[in-house]
Amino acid sequence: MLEIRKIEPEMTYSVRHIVLRPHQTVEDCKYDTDHQDNAFHVGAFYQGELVSVASFCVEKHLDFPIKKQYRLRAMATLKDFRKLGAGRSLVNYAEDFIKEQGFNILWCKGRTTVQGYYSRLGFKAHGEVFDYPPIGPHIIMYKKLGSCCYST
Ligand SMILES: CC(C)(COP(=O)(O)OP(=O)(O)OC[C@H]1O[C@@H](n2cnc3c(N)ncnc32)[C@H](O)[C@@H]1OP(=O)(O)O)[C@@H](O)C(=O)NCCC(=O)NCCS
Repeated sequence: MLEIRKIEPEMTYSVRHIVLRPHQTVEDCKYDTDHQDNAFHVGAFYQGELVSVASFCVEKHLDFPIKKQYRLRAMATLKDFRKLGAGRSLVNYAEDFIKEQGFNILWCKGRTTVQGYYSRLGFKAHGEVFDYPPIGPHIIMYKKLGSCCYST
């Protein structure tokens, strides 16, 4: 029912805009990391319609003493298609690819409003809640992949 595949960064912008930054411009939905080396973007399609997106880039969070880290950015599922497994399916797809590349950790700045979602996907919280203007409270969430030796 859901088709998961890599997509071009430009395809993520409309879902990012509707879901994540409705009060900002489409221009604000373009991230500096979108075209970075090794960055990739994944979409979930329901009956041919793009309903969920997320983006992944190589970025090191200094709190994690591990060289090979990926960051998850701009995770968003259209309201009418939530709780159908779209977000989980595309993150799982990305994790497989990231593991294949020999990377050991996936982390994100997660909105505290959806911390439960990341927990369901096996992410753990790290550190204190912080403000991420103009969006609001966030917390670092991370997930060890493969044979990662970092422990908290
Ligand atoms: C968070 C979000 C991406 C989840 O997408 P989704 O496609 O509905 O997620 P899934 O259907 O794959 O859910 C996977 C699991 O998480 C749970 N879940 C989904 N949203 C949740 C939430 N807001 N809080 C707690 N659990 C949640 C689901 O029930 C499911 O649980 P299960 O293990 O029992 O099956 C979506 O709600 C969204 O776009 N929210 C607004 C934007 C946002 O906050 N993005 C994150 C920015 S950091």
